[in-house]
Amino acid sequence: MIHPVLASFLQNTSFLDVLYIVAFALFIQGLRGLSGPTTAVRGNRIAAVGMGIAVVATLLNRGEGNWGLIALGSALGTAVGVPAARQVRMTAMPQMVALFNGVGGGAVFLISWTEFRLTHGYSHTATYIAIFSLFAAIVGSVSFWGSNIAFGKLQEILPGRPITLGAAQQAVNLLLLALAIAAAVDIAAGDHSEGVFIGMLVCAALLGNAVVLPIGGADMPVVISMLNACTGLSAAATGIALNNPALIVAGMIVGASGSILTNLMAVAMNRSIPAIVAGGFGGGGVVEGATGAGEHAGTVRSTSAADAAIQLAYASRVVIVPGYGMAVAQAQHAVRELTKELEARGVEVSYAIHPVAGRMPGHMNVLLAEADVPYDQLREMDDANPEFQRTDVSLVIGANDVTNPAAKNTPSSPIYGMPILEVADSRSVIVIKRSMNPGFAGIENELYYDPKTAMLFGDAKSAVSEITAELAHI
Ligand code: TAP
Repeated sequence: MIHPVLASFLQNTSFLDVLYIVAFALFIQGLRGLSGPTTAVRGNRIAAVGMGIAVVATLLNRGEGNWGLIALGSALGTAVGVPAARQVRMTAMPQMVALFNGVGGGAVFLISWTEFRLTHGYSHTATYIAIFSLFAAIVGSVSFWGSNIAFGKLQEILPGRPITLGAAQQAVNLLLLALAIAAAVDIAAGDHSEGVFIGMLVCAALLGNAVVLPIGGADMPVVISMLNACTGLSAAATGIALNNPALIVAGMIVGASGSILTNLMAVAMNRSIPAIVAGGFGGGGVVEGATGAGEHAGTVRSTSAADAAIQLAYASRVVIVPGYGMAVAQAQHAVRELTKELEARGVEVSYAIHPVAGRMPGHMNVLLAEADVPYDQLREMDDANPEFQRTDVSLVIGANDVTNPAAKNTPSSPIYGMPILEVADSRSVIVIKRSMNPGFAGIENELYYDPKTAMLFGDAKSAVSEITAELAHI
């Protein structure tokens, strides 16, 4: 049993505020750590400690809820979340983020619903509190349902292609939004009917589905990050309604970082955010204007691991361009072995990383860090591009769209304008992939028909290991 003096100290609101301030400082410090691969793991841990402190401070609040239910909820969350986070493959990380984000949005709209019931439809509650709570309910619900659809598409439970209502789509979306807002206004004006509140949640749920279903797989990570920002904003609004500073600050941090990330990704893919939301591009498989494999007039030169090894061994400068295929094949360790072998022969090796190589931001950096690739060998796109001209061999491993010169040269291409790694500027190019199949954008790559390009067909991991084995004979 806690001594009453200690209990009153622990539950003192000033003490709880101090705990919250410590938690915020740790969130911000943790987020700062996430800006670089060397500090990211530590940053994550620091933010987790901050969240732990915020949770403890909330639980110390006088008269805090039903302890049995809190323990049950925590146990269930831990039992599902910890194994899921430990077992997830790096390539499945975007859908994992979508799912976790959806859970956040779901929690927010359920809290608003609970508040509505506890306050008897916000009677005797300041109007601004009701407004924030209703805003949180709508945005949280949109975020929950939208994130679930994003998860379903990326997990291939739902088709990745856009699913639309055609010309009526925009009108239906606007109608659902208008109905949800009208219900919220009615409640804020004094209607205590739970039916209206549930109707508002249903409209927001349908809107979440209707907004994300027409978006194609290729734009999905951007949408997930946008929904993440929405969840943050709705959590902050809940924080205002509940007068909980931890929720306000954490929600604003998530909202701001999610918005910045969305913008960075959209810029790197040369996509405007309104165009993504309108679902104009879409098509995780086939994009309008795409040409299928084999329709190109040129010829393709294929090579062998032995020839690739000779070319690499006699180069003085090699740039490795990793892409989604390297991630799926889990070839990062094999690539690191190849690099060591080349460096032992005096070849200068670096890695050129495109901001959207793979399926999520930072995908390649994380994989290469896992294989102990030194950070000073990693080049961001802007630093890498001017160096291709003095590169003897660019070794493209499971990357496709991010190297496609059509983005620069072909105005009719769906990826025209997307910044690319200009590997075609190097003296020769070796591309490792399994077939002539297109990448995520569903379009053919002009690079493969360039006379200086040689294709080494095969799985990234085995092809790279074969090259390393061949190097031993040179
Ligand atoms: P992609 O263009 O998707 O190309 C990957 C290539 O890897 C495919 O052409 C595939 O060809 C090959 N591949 C697959 N499995 C392989 C394996 N086991 N071994 C060898 N090769 C394999 O990838 P990228 O160049 O990294 O571009 C990323 C794409 O994702 C871009 O279109 C980008 O816009 C999109 N995207 C990225 C993000 C972020 S934030 N990263 C967000 C949204 C969208 P084969 O089938 O012939 O082997």
